[in-house]
Amino acid sequence: KQHEQIISLLNQMTLEEKIGQLQQLGPSLVGAFEVSFEELLDMMFDGRISEEEFHKLISTAKEDLREDDVRAGKIGSFNGLYGAEKINYLQKIAVEESRLGIPLLFGADIIHGMRTVYPIPLAESCAFDPKLWEETAEMAAKEATSSGIHWTFGPMIDVARDARWGRISEGAGEDTYLNSVFARAKVKGFQGGNPAQEDRLLACAKHFIAYGAAESGRDYNTTDISMQKLHEVYLPPFKAAIDVGVASIMPSFNDVNGVPVTANNYLLNNILKEECGFGGLLVSDANAIAELVNHGFAEDQKEASKLAIEAGMNMDMSSKSYSTYLKELVEEEKIKESLVDNTAYKVLKLKMEKGLFENPYQTNKVKEENTILKPEFREKAKEAALKSMVLLKNEDILPLSSDKKIGLVGNLAESKGQMLGAWAINGHDEDCISILEGLKAKFHKLKYEACIKDSKVDVSAVNHIAEECDVIVAVVGEIKEMSGEAASRSDISLPQEQEELLKALYETGKPVVAVLVNGRPLAISWVSEHVQAILEAWHGGIEAGNAVAEILLGLYNPSGKLSVSFPQSTGACPCYYNHPSTGRPAGKSKFTSKYLDIPSEPVYSFGYGLSYTTYEYSDLQAVIEDNQLRASITVTNAGEMDGEETVQLYIQDVAAKRVRPVRELKSFRKVTLEKGESKKVDFIIPVSELGYYDNSMNYIVEVGMFKIYAGGSLNKCLEIEVELK
Ligand code: IFM
Repeated sequence: KQHEQIISLLNQMTLEEKIGQLQQLGPSLVGAFEVSFEELLDMMFDGRISEEEFHKLISTAKEDLREDDVRAGKIGSFNGLYGAEKINYLQKIAVEESRLGIPLLFGADIIHGMRTVYPIPLAESCAFDPKLWEETAEMAAKEATSSGIHWTFGPMIDVARDARWGRISEGAGEDTYLNSVFARAKVKGFQGGNPAQEDRLLACAKHFIAYGAAESGRDYNTTDISMQKLHEVYLPPFKAAIDVGVASIMPSFNDVNGVPVTANNYLLNNILKEECGFGGLLVSDANAIAELVNHGFAEDQKEASKLAIEAGMNMDMSSKSYSTYLKELVEEEKIKESLVDNTAYKVLKLKMEKGLFENPYQTNKVKEENTILKPEFREKAKEAALKSMVLLKNEDILPLSSDKKIGLVGNLAESKGQMLGAWAINGHDEDCISILEGLKAKFHKLKYEACIKDSKVDVSAVNHIAEECDVIVAVVGEIKEMSGEAASRSDISLPQEQEELLKALYETGKPVVAVLVNGRPLAISWVSEHVQAILEAWHGGIEAGNAVAEILLGLYNPSGKLSVSFPQSTGACPCYYNHPSTGRPAGKSKFTSKYLDIPSEPVYSFGYGLSYTTYEYSDLQAVIEDNQLRASITVTNAGEMDGEETVQLYIQDVAAKRVRPVRELKSFRKVTLEKGESKKVDFIIPVSELGYYDNSMNYIVEVGMFKIYAGGSLNKCLEIEVELK
């Protein structure tokens, strides 16, 4: 029925109207400048005006909602417009004043919450908690839909192994399996069983594919990847999203092996559609179709439009390539009108899936006011922050007692907005609990001194606070602009003044607890050797301050495990646990695979994270029968505090026809254990998941020995061998 409805609609549409459906734009800005907003953007990108001048100009401009274009059916979708009233106003024009009354689809980047900002995804992935991931996505969907949004450009599920890449903050880290579980949970959370429900969002898995593999960690950079690696490392999270019905996918900016993904017929058709069974909508990344010209892949924007639509790209985000050139291309018989029909079909189908034809106004102002920042969302944001934080070091100093004289230092401690992290466009600084506020509410003898002024450490302030206090809590890290899009760094050390602050504190001899606030793994080898405790708090969202305080005080027993490795230095990037075995694994001899100047292991590895209690593991068993690998292990809380532990299961294929990773995460289970309690944890892994792609790109599962490792962190696993016969 839906199909017939779409066909009947297409039959009534002019070519221009069909092309209009393929165009997604943001609101335009008009006012204090002579040129168009798009030209202004170009001027900033090519350096004719500075970023500062650009922001000054747009801050004085007015939003132009492009009503005339909506009325004329020239726009199918908006990006980045928020607010029930504004969105309903535009929707009314589309529905009541455009010739065919086709509703608009409103998309936005709801990455880790909307007004209620949860921890950045990299942080949240450290919770190893699919239920939590689903719940925060569901709540984000409730808030965003109340504000008029129908479609989120999330989740980001790019496997990212290079900490220089700023967008590592937006996904679930370095591991393929973890990203796949994350992808499933987030898509389910956003979309629910039926995205037509008013409080659910259409999801968009991004960025397909290997965006996280950008050479040297530089955003938008080229990638060169074997098909085996593409299938084994980068594709599974997308397959997982497709399997749970993700409505749309965003191809990435980069090229893969010389062909930009935006117009990559092989990747978009052969792999995504035929191999993975994706039947949803493909939306380009912003301006990516026009950028095919910069890639040197298309002669001009007209050819870029032809290449992109032929490769299967359905919606043009921002570039106006389709709206400018497709008509000409059809008239000149360079593309068939039926290709435009099929492309518009996808857009109309997505709108139907969201229920927009029957129910174009899915929210209103009252609903929005009643939904934004609901107490239960804030509560969940705190739970997510608590579960995301990772205790990296603790020399018997944490938890702190509330009657200790605590000296709090570091300019990030007082910041509210910095806790939001990258891609939190709708977050409000004033909604955030800073670490200073969080600690003040719990520690009665707290003294705060930033000790950093104009990017310089104030050593006398450091000495003064150290003299007065028993313990120093130093909040150090990156500001939010240092990670996220277009925020790659060639040096992932702590910013200079932040590390100098720790060094000045070290000189005082007072015990120091470092609280890290950052959007990527940092190279912190000096810190890990010299301070007494380290809590990785990430950019923890609006409840970051309360969560840090509760953990430092021991009201919550930290349970996060790293979803990404912390390298010894920037030179060790990319750094990830599941690298293929080398012929000369790092060892004592010089002629092994290592660096001369740093240890061969990361400072902190994937899967690592401490707790205030200790867990002991025993009785690992594994068997392969009935096409299943079945393993079990007993975990005991042997310490003095109740807690949660993530039990991880890794495999290694001992000998194979292609070199296999030293370890591969295949499953994990998060368990709650009261002090003294033991639990047997069972894992069942289908044998089909033990395979790999051979040299001819056949997926094979080989008989032979497999090592099974299980435990609470990669480096402290019990080990057993099983044979697949
Ligand atoms: O969704 C984003 C994408 O991740 C980066 N470019 C802009 C898009 C839309 O805002």
